[in-house]
Amino acid sequence: MNSRRDFMGMALGGFTALGGIGALYAMKRSWDPLPSVKSAGFTTIDLSGAVENVLNVEKWRGKPIFVLKLAADAPKSPRQITVGGSRYLVVIGLCTHLGCIPSFDIAADNKNKFKCACHGGEYDINAVETFGPPPRPLDIPPFKLSGTSLVLGEEGPEYKKMLASGLTLKV
Ligand code: FES
Repeated sequence: MNSRRDFMGMALGGFTALGGIGALYAMKRSWDPLPSVKSAGFTTIDLSGAVENVLNVEKWRGKPIFVLKLAADAPKSPRQITVGGSRYLVVIGLCTHLGCIPSFDIAADNKNKFKCACHGGEYDINAVETFGPPPRPLDIPPFKLSGTSLVLGEEGPEYKKMLASGLTLKV
């Protein structure tokens, strides 16, 4: 009787461990950065492998950079960039209130996709503030488009246009 219970316990433990590994794998997949190359203050990211609604977090000059391939039904905004026919959001992942890193909630509606746990600030799918103390949208880092790649740290024409029209601050 005891050995049967032991076996059931081990089997149950095994399933739980497998479930845990599965969850970790799913989490790692969603956090895996896109292929990127860093050199002299520039980070080049290949967007061709990006998956819709999976937030990629890159690092540029010590700052987290959110790169999100938008779903076809995401509301359009001049803050987005288009690469290979797909729309992307590329922003610095630091809350414009006091600099915490907001989280991305895929399940939330497009009005409160990014949430800052520090003081409850919220941003929509285009990283525009919708609630709480953030004074402005998440900033857009200087970028340049080159084929299917994004070069962070270079000011390309698309970025200069965003700056000139007041869509972001210079960082
Ligand atoms: S730092 Fe994000 S709401 Fe205050």
